[in-house]
Amino acid sequence: MEIKLLGEKVGDILAITEDINHIRDIDSLLDRVLLEARKFTNADAGSIYLVKNNYLSFDYVQNDTLMKADQSGNHFLYSKFKIKIDENSIAGYVAKTKLPLVINDVYKLGNEVPYVFNQSFDKQSNYRTIAILTIPLITSRDKIIGVMQIINPKKKSEIITFNNTDKQLVTYFASQAAVAIERAIMTRDTILRMIRMAEMRDPKETGAHVNRVGAYAIEIYNSWAVKKKHTIDEIKKKKDILRIAAMLHDVGKIGISDLILRKNGKLTEGEFNEMKMHTIYGMELFSEKSSESDEIAGEIALNHHEKWDGTGYPGILNTNSDIYSFGRGKKGEEIPIYARIVALADVYDALFSKRSYKDSWSEASVLEYIKSERNKQFDPEVVDAFFSIYKVITAIREKYI
Ligand SMILES: [Fe+2]
Ligand SMILES: [Fe+2]
Repeated sequence: MEIKLLGEKVGDILAITEDINHIRDIDSLLDRVLLEARKFTNADAGSIYLVKNNYLSFDYVQNDTLMKADQSGNHFLYSKFKIKIDENSIAGYVAKTKLPLVINDVYKLGNEVPYVFNQSFDKQSNYRTIAILTIPLITSRDKIIGVMQIINPKKKSEIITFNNTDKQLVTYFASQAAVAIERAIMTRDTILRMIRMAEMRDPKETGAHVNRVGAYAIEIYNSWAVKKKHTIDEIKKKKDILRIAAMLHDVGKIGISDLILRKNGKLTEGEFNEMKMHTIYGMELFSEKSSESDEIAGEIALNHHEKWDGTGYPGILNTNSDIYSFGRGKKGEEIPIYARIVALADVYDALFSKRSYKDSWSEASVLEYIKSERNKQFDPEVVDAFFSIYKVITAIREKYI
């Protein structure tokens, strides 16, 4: 019976592995990997650390108890801390030894072990960690890329301890997941490199700015789509695509002259008209539309300066000739939802940032402005979604600096 169960579960793991190999975005992937790993043991919580510059950086967290208590979203996701890869912490120890580790009660660690349990997350969040299963994430080339922790396994609502089968199954799953995670990290790095190329030309488009806009966009979308009663599956799929597409909103600036991009002070009308072309150049970069993600990236690049009341650009394009001409601005739902979301995320972030031609605004004046533009520049439902998760928005702003 036991063996058959194990066999079935290994079959499940193979099916899940096949599935996760289709996920592009690293955060969507970590979300799914952690969710699946927790399912094996019905675990209440879990987190993933990834290796960055010889440290373990805290990259992903799920916690059913805390999420249930706080409906505004998972702002813990955007906590920022790193730990050394050494024997002093549980995750560091596992990264160093590359061996899985089961602890039945982290508050009862004896002197015989070199590591201590870091209570800061528990203290900050009022959570009580008891049992932890910590698994190294090792690629097929034996490289450690991170550590996954599964926390507080449950039977009904009772917290129990991990057994050997749990350890074996999660370890096997982690070895499959590590390969997918390594690939998704490469995709994210390639995109950030592309953005850095654009950044060399336009100092406003920094890596931190696009990271923030990508994260704001998926969180606003999530809140908007939940209210619209879209299914969880659909939301997850779209978030996977949206983050990367949102990060690329201004990639069309690659086609704009340095004289305009780097000009200090106000642009002339002619210069501004040339600047507007970045929306069209961006769309053209994705015009092959070979996938849904290209399609959404193209929509965002083209429409992120349109305004809800129709006063934005580039407007309805005349596509009959090779030379585009700007038409009347798109209005309301003529503007694709993803572009309506990125428009708000981009403006919010830009107002907060200090740029060569302006100082950064205070938080109160930024929020005041967004409220006053509800129903004018911005889609009112998108503005409402933004304010309903403002705690998450703040956490994102503090994470990517
Ligand atoms: Fe733009
Ligand atoms: Fe931007």
